[in-house]
Amino acid sequence: MNKSIVILGHGGHARVVLDVLRCLGWPVAGFLTPDLAAGTDWLGLPVLGDDTWLQSKKAGDHAYVLGLGLLPHRPTLRAALYHRVRDLGLDTPALIHPSAILARDVHTESGVQIMAGAVIQPGSMIGEDALLNTGCRVDHDCQIGAHAHLAPGAILCGGVRVGEGAFIGAGAVLLPGVQIGEGAQVAAGATVRRNIPPRVRHIPGHTDKPL
Ligand SMILES: CC(C)(COP(=O)(O)OP(=O)(O)OC[C@H]1O[C@@H](n2cnc3c(N)ncnc32)[C@H](O)[C@@H]1OP(=O)(O)O)[C@@H](O)C(=O)NCCC(=O)NCCS
Repeated sequence: MNKSIVILGHGGHARVVLDVLRCLGWPVAGFLTPDLAAGTDWLGLPVLGDDTWLQSKKAGDHAYVLGLGLLPHRPTLRAALYHRVRDLGLDTPALIHPSAILARDVHTESGVQIMAGAVIQPGSMIGEDALLNTGCRVDHDCQIGAHAHLAPGAILCGGVRVGEGAFIGAGAVLLPGVQIGEGAQVAAGATVRRNIPPRVRHIPGHTDKPL
């Protein structure tokens, strides 16, 4: 990476992202956050400003990684921020932890984040800005839509499709070939045996709730 990285956000996911960047040996310029004053030190790096900094002249000197995840109760924030960065023509490199295992033909798009210990098997496609969190497992021929989040330890059997902006909770298991609709959410620990429609929250033992 020849441009130094700016991380958007300063919460728990930002710490994880910073660790990946340090493992990769990529230079990091600092953070953007609305919650801390510019110039504040956080984890040994400066807060550069808030999101308005993206419009400054120096913004193009850097590349950007998102330091916030897609969480069930704020499902659109991450995608909105990603699009803001892209619409400004700024770089959003894929971030892949060195311990992640990707089959040789896995297709990844701009801005994907694949965290420590994830395993992605042949024929799988990972859409723009998708977040595959710690230790998730994606078997052969899965399709992960743009902006989707597979939380830590989620397991996708072969041929699963996860729609754009969907959230798969920690440790959920998706059986072979199931389809998760756009923007749908699967609770942590759920075992999913059937397709889940778009924009509903699926919790075991409960009727799917529209979002
Ligand atoms: C599903 C989830 C989003 C909660 O949704 P919610 O609509 O706010 O649900 P509530 O907390 O109001 O609970 C509603 C019911 O579902 C149950 N429930 C909630 N989460 C559940 C889960 N993961 N598994 C089983 N039941 C669950 C609750 O016990 C409650 O049951 P009740 O009505 O019989 O009392 C949340 O529990 C969850 O699983 N989040 C994912 C967390 C995660 O993976 N984070 C990763 C961060 S990297």
